[in-house]
Amino acid sequence: MTTATAIANPNLAFIKYWGNRDNVLRLPMNGSISMNLDGLYTRTTVSFQPSLPFDELIINRHEVTGAGLDRVAYILDIIRGMANIHERAEVMTENNFPAGAGIASSASAFAALALAGSKAAGLDLSEPELSRLARRGSGSAARSIPSGFVEWQVGTTDEDSFAFSIAEPDHWKLVDCVAIVSASHKKTGSTEGHSIAPTSPLQAARVTDAPRRLELCRNAILNCDFDAFTSIVELDSDMMHSVMMTSTPALHYWKPTSLEVMNSVRTWRSEGIPVCYTMDAGANVHVICLDSEAHTVEKRLREIRGVTDVLVAVAGGAAKVVKNGD
Ligand code: DP6
Repeated sequence: MTTATAIANPNLAFIKYWGNRDNVLRLPMNGSISMNLDGLYTRTTVSFQPSLPFDELIINRHEVTGAGLDRVAYILDIIRGMANIHERAEVMTENNFPAGAGIASSASAFAALALAGSKAAGLDLSEPELSRLARRGSGSAARSIPSGFVEWQVGTTDEDSFAFSIAEPDHWKLVDCVAIVSASHKKTGSTEGHSIAPTSPLQAARVTDAPRRLELCRNAILNCDFDAFTSIVELDSDMMHSVMMTSTPALHYWKPTSLEVMNSVRTWRSEGIPVCYTMDAGANVHVICLDSEAHTVEKRLREIRGVTDVLVAVAGGAAKVVKNGD
């Protein structure tokens, strides 16, 4: 096989990955737990061609060179090494969600690349092998390989730092309502953020406490216990942002509207609506609720001034091959 196409969802972390103990291998300082986001996806076709002098990358019909291409070529080099082939590849990729929508595309992008690239090279990798390969491109991509609710175990080396499914998508009808908050400044990317995490005096405490939070979150998901889930998910998000705010240089992702949304979520909860928040490396707020409340929550979010849009996603499946062969 020389050509294959794969799709993968982005994912939302409930217990966050922040900081690496090895920045090259992307070995994390702590394990993390996430949910794949159904309906949003990256679709990637990899085609190894003997006539190509260099790897080529086309994202949403635009050719990309420089650092973006280098990051993709790094994964292709690993695949070529595993398959013992030397052809360069054309990589064509498309996201069905807009780049400015505040959903990080690196997780779905590197999961789809790992799957399509390895298939196109004639490899038939196991799920842990695919997760490890995706991890080398973007840490959170390790979690976009398995299905539904996913845990990325911290591991001790490259071999055992991979993600696996802890529950299928239909296990619990959680909905992520993403409140899009326009941010005027250019945000610091995750890769740089991970590298400065150890400069925060709070990071060591966050990492030491991670196994406890992972266990509480895993059990809350397995038992479909929304109250327990709320406590640990909001704590984990606030702890990561405390580290970000106390790093050198300091990273402040919260905007006034982000805070307004988080306060509203607490108010709605006191009124009896099961709902909680979590934030990643940006100003948008992921508001999580049960599907029975999703319509109400979406409507209320749209009424908050400064919220420019709301995306809604339920739990999604595993990364999958959609075409294999020329
Ligand atoms: C805040 O996986 O985007 O979303 O490995 O540098 O690509 P790189 O980082 P990335 O980091 C994700 C950070 C986060 C939390 C999370 O998804 O766990």
